[in-house]
Amino acid sequence: MVMELRVTLIGCGTVGQGLLEILRDRGNEVDRRTGVRIRIVGVADMKMGSAESPGGLEPAQLLAAARTGSFAGLPGAERRRDALGLIREVDADAMAEATFTNLETGEPALSHVRAALTLGRSVVTTNKGPAALALGELRALAARNRAAFLFEGTVMSGTPVIGLVEHSLAGDRIQELRGILNGTTNFILTKMEAGGSYGEALAEAQRLGYAEANPAGDVEGHDAQGKVIILAAALMETNLTAAQVPCEGITRITPDAIARARAEGKRYKLVGVVRRTGNGVEASVGPQALPLDDPLAGISGVMNAINFRTDLLGSLTVVGPGAGRVETGFALLADLIEVGRRLAR
Ligand SMILES: NC(=O)c1ccc[n+]([C@@H]2O[C@H](COP(=O)([O-])OP(=O)(O)OC[C@H]3O[C@@H](n4cnc5c(N)ncnc54)[C@H](OP(=O)(O)O)[C@@H]3O)[C@@H](O)[C@H]2O)c1
Repeated sequence: MVMELRVTLIGCGTVGQGLLEILRDRGNEVDRRTGVRIRIVGVADMKMGSAESPGGLEPAQLLAAARTGSFAGLPGAERRRDALGLIREVDADAMAEATFTNLETGEPALSHVRAALTLGRSVVTTNKGPAALALGELRALAARNRAAFLFEGTVMSGTPVIGLVEHSLAGDRIQELRGILNGTTNFILTKMEAGGSYGEALAEAQRLGYAEANPAGDVEGHDAQGKVIILAAALMETNLTAAQVPCEGITRITPDAIARARAEGKRYKLVGVVRRTGNGVEASVGPQALPLDDPLAGISGVMNAINFRTDLLGSLTVVGPGAGRVETGFALLADLIEVGRRLAR
C-alpha cells in the first residue's frame, strides 16, 4: 500500500528546486521503494508567488515555472498570497521549509514552522534558524499536535547525522562530537595548506560559488556555531544560546601558522565541538591544529565530517557533503519519507 503524503513547499530556491528535481526524476522509484508517495499540493516563494492544487502540482511544471521566475500560469497561482496564508489555507500533511536562514530571529521560517505544527502538519526543514533557536519549543509543539519536526538537512545537508544517531545509535551514548561543519572554511584552509593566501583562497571559493559575496557567516564561524547548537540540542538534550558557545572563525589563520603546524605534523581545521562534562554539556567552535592521524585531519575541500566518541562503539566518523542543491534537497526527501512512514504506522 502506498501512503500519499500531501506536502506544501515554502521557499523554492536552490534547495526547494533540488527536492523538485529528485521528485521529477525518481518520484516513482521513491513510491515503489519506500511506500510513500510525495505530492506537492502547494508552493510559495517570495519572488515567484504561489500555486496550489489538491491533486498535486507536477514537479517538472514547477521547475519550468521556477526557471521563468514566476508561478503565474500554474494551477491556483496567486501572486499576492504570502507563505503563511498558503500554509494555513492549503490542506496538507506536511510542510517542507526551505527559506533563507536567519540565526538571530529565525524568521520568516520560525513563523512558518509554528503555524504548520499548530495545525498538526509535520515539518521538515533545512533551515538552521528554527532548529538552532527553538528546538525544544518546536519539538514540544509537534508532540502536542501529533506531528513531527525533522531537520536533518540543517547540519550536513543530506549526509545523515541526526537520523543516524536517533535510529542507528539509539542505545549508545555520545560523550563527545567534533565536526568539520562548514565546507567553505574547509575549502579555504585546504587551499591555504597547498600554498595560497587567505585572500586568494577566499576569492577562489567565491568564484566556485562556495562562499557568498559577504562570507562573514562562514569565515567567522557563525554557520558552524548554529550547527553546534542544533547538535547539542538534538543529540545531547542541551539548549544552548550563541552566547554560551565561544566562536572563532578562520580569519586570523595565517600562512605562517599553517606552515608551523605542518612542520609539527599537524593541519588546521575549523572544528565544532560538543562534549559532556561533569557539569553538563559544553560547546565551542574554533580553529584547531589537528595531528594528521586525527579522523578529521584528512577531510579536505568542501567535504564535511563529524567524529563521534560513544560509549559502546568508541570512535565513529561520518563523512559527506555538507551543501549542494540535490544533496540538500535529498535531506528534505529523506525527512518526508520518514514523516510518511510514521503516518502510515
Ligand atoms: N544551499 C545549500 O547547499 C544548503 C545546505 C544546507 C542548508 N541550507 C539551508 O536551506 C535553506 C534554503 O537554502 P537555499 O540555498 O535554497 O536558499 P535560496 O536559494 O536563497 O532559496 C530560498 C528561497 O526562499 C524564498 N523566500 C525567502 N523568504 C520567503 C518567505 N517569507 N516566503 C516564501 N519564500 C521565501 C527566497 O525568495 P527570494 O529569493 O525572493 O528571497 C528563495 O527563493 C536555507 O535556510 C539554507 O541555509 C542550504
